Amino acid sequence: MSARSSLTVVLAAGEGKRMRSSLPKVLHPVASQSLLAHVLHASPSGPAARLALVIGPDHAAVADEARRIRPDAEIFIQRQRLGTAHAVLAAREAVARGADDLLVAFGDTPLISAETFARLREPLNKGAALAVLGFRAVDPTGYGRLLMQGEQLVAIREQADASEAEKEVTLCNAGVMAFDGKKAVSILDRIGNANGKSEYYLVDAVEIVRDMGLEAAVIETSEDEVRGINTKAQLAEAEAVMQARLRKAAMDAGVTLIAPETIYLAADTTFGKDVTIEPFVFLGPGVSIADGAVIHSFSHIVQAVIGKKAEIGPFARLRPGASLGERVKVGNFVEIKASTLETGVKVNHLAYIGDAEIGASANIGAGAITCNYDGFFKHKTTIGKEAFVGTNSSLVAPVKIGDRAYIGSGSVITKDVPDDAMAIERSQQSNREGGAARYREIKTRAKKPKT
Ligand code: UD1
Ligand code: MG
Repeated sequence: MSARSSLTVVLAAGEGKRMRSSLPKVLHPVASQSLLAHVLHASPSGPAARLALVIGPDHAAVADEARRIRPDAEIFIQRQRLGTAHAVLAAREAVARGADDLLVAFGDTPLISAETFARLREPLNKGAALAVLGFRAVDPTGYGRLLMQGEQLVAIREQADASEAEKEVTLCNAGVMAFDGKKAVSILDRIGNANGKSEYYLVDAVEIVRDMGLEAAVIETSEDEVRGINTKAQLAEAEAVMQARLRKAAMDAGVTLIAPETIYLAADTTFGKDVTIEPFVFLGPGVSIADGAVIHSFSHIVQAVIGKKAEIGPFARLRPGASLGERVKVGNFVEIKASTLETGVKVNHLAYIGDAEIGASANIGAGAITCNYDGFFKHKTTIGKEAFVGTNSSLVAPVKIGDRAYIGSGSVITKDVPDDAMAIERSQQSNREGGAARYREIKTRAKKPKT
């Protein structure tokens, strides 16, 4: 099987009007990953697997997303939306170049799995010219119906063209198809547009294949796997299916989810051994959680690395670039962004740590803040190992706190503090003038070209 080469053509030229969004439909996320990314990840990959994407005009962002995941993707533009077969032929150049198997998938069907693509290719290996992915729809309205004669697939009838009897059929077309690559162009070229909508329907390939004296096969899958997304409500349904899958996979891998239905995972979340996640936790994209870590309730975590035996939350927020070492503790109402916390650092309560590097075993007191932003620029804070930052201290960046330094509570630190030093700096000054001048000064700096 794997010896056969493939070309997967992903159709995504639809406008997705029913999403009522300025974002192209296939860029909407499910489990923090675009619909398109899900389809591309499931599509065959490897040296003998090519990929083509058909997009609408003005959808450069869709092309960018495809290339991010599959740098080898060939992009084709379908200028007029004349139907699914017309869309596949927008990629004619790639199709004509030939592959053993031509797979057609839809960009708005994110729950499809790699195994299903593999199953769909099996009949081709046994001599069929076409294999269609089918499913039993709870409500078949709107789907193309698979018309069978015994075991033989004889036609697919679109809703608009179906008779009353045909509308009763619940075996439906998922939209995903596999063609014998050598015959694909001649089959596709025969498809016409004599139907209710005057569109070139890919589904007509079935009757054409039969007329050519060739075989069309059906491979069945579950409805959940082929849900197409057309509306925000369907997007939410797909999210629910995907979350259920991700939670199950996490638990199968040994993660303890105390109340799985309350935990949101991303498609790319990675876990070590013996991780525990308490109820009501949101994990966005790019999160990895190492062995033995515990995430307490109501934590929100995005693009963050969590070290072994670290403890996060409850009510913690880890933003992009938070990198926490072993046994780090981040407690309630703490926000961490673009910062590295070495082994054993504790930030237990009500703190903001942004653009900082904190050495091993440092202790950051309640209410401590890295003042990383002056209104225009971000600045860095460095805190040495075993340093102690007293409660309610403001570290005005750029600033360095030495190893084992001790900052008295309520300090406003504007100058570097050497190793082992003690700094207690509470301004008694009451100077309420000059704010506007100070702001203007920073603004002037902001306007100077960067060197
Ligand atoms: C299609 C199938 C139907 C099937 C259903 C499953 C056809 C004719 N009908 O219907 O049998 O049950 O999917 O969801 O194939 N697209 C283009 N260019 C076009 C037209 C469509 O790129 O000119 C893309 C869309 O972006 C979408 C996919 O093709 O990704 C399917 O198009 P859509 O209009 O949603 O087809 P359905 O009416 O749902
Ligand atoms: Mg559709």
